[in-house]
Amino acid sequence: MVPVSALPELTVRAPAKINLHLGVGCPRPDGYHPLVTVYQAIGLYDDVWVAGHSSWEVDVRLASYIRDTEIPRPGDNLVDKAAELLAAHHGCQRLGSVMIDKAIPVAGGMAGGSADAAAALVALDRLWDLRTPDNVLLALAARLGSDIPFALVGGTALGTGRGEQVEQVSDQGTWWWVVVPAEEGLSTPEVYRHFDLLFPDAPADPAPAYGVLTALASGDPARLAAAMHNDLEAAALDLRPDLSDLIAEGEEIGALRGMVSGSGPSCVFLCASGDHAREVAAGLTDRGCPVILVANGPVAGAHVVELT
Ligand code: C5P
Repeated sequence: MVPVSALPELTVRAPAKINLHLGVGCPRPDGYHPLVTVYQAIGLYDDVWVAGHSSWEVDVRLASYIRDTEIPRPGDNLVDKAAELLAAHHGCQRLGSVMIDKAIPVAGGMAGGSADAAAALVALDRLWDLRTPDNVLLALAARLGSDIPFALVGGTALGTGRGEQVEQVSDQGTWWWVVVPAEEGLSTPEVYRHFDLLFPDAPADPAPAYGVLTALASGDPARLAAAMHNDLEAAALDLRPDLSDLIAEGEEIGALRGMVSGSGPSCVFLCASGDHAREVAAGLTDRGCPVILVANGPVAGAHVVELT
């Protein structure tokens, strides 16, 4: 066994995702909903630092705008589960010290927990020197959660199945986003259940993503704005009616398009450029939004940023 002091220390950074297209079908026999989605990774990140240790410990530091009541209990978060699954797959012990620096809104529809799990898989694979092939890491990620494979690959990708099957798509733009996190999160299963209530006749095959795919290949923000689509938006807005006003305000200020991100309640606003995004962010601040983030995409999936 390698002594703890000889192990590396490293930090892996993983991005938030937004769904530019989210087509949702009626529930499958296993309870999951079939999806046709277009993910984009944007420049809003969680960092996961790992180091050798004689036991297993996980700590979390939160950005100022994240409330600590929203964080899962120790032992019950996706990083613990990712570590357990990776260690079990290789028959090794789960030992290490982990620090998660969270900046992605929690329970916000931006896959923050999934980003942490993806970062942990990459970081622990390196810490434990396991050299897991990419296809195996992707399969482990899919077992942990539907959008964790995307957090590994990043960029802009088409997601099918329950969202876990991902393939990169042509994306000719650098897209600018204003992100408005909500003060209180929404539970993803609750939003899906509400979708089932509102749309009992949802088709088995989700809406295709041709409009968004064509817009991405054109690089034209106005075309992307017109094509963006989210089948979960009606359910999220029904659970949080105040978000409709926020979206209307952002568009009034000049955003090309505002939309709920995934299952919500974070909202994203597409802007024409970095300067335009900063203008829209300033306008929303003037109207009383306490937290506004600006990010662009696409960006890389989980990757090592520091290794000693
Ligand atoms: O896959 P993941 O664990 O992230 O999913 C969380 C929950 O979201 C599921 O338990 C399910 O209620 C819902 N979900 C769904 N259909 C999907 C993805 C997620 O119903 N395609």
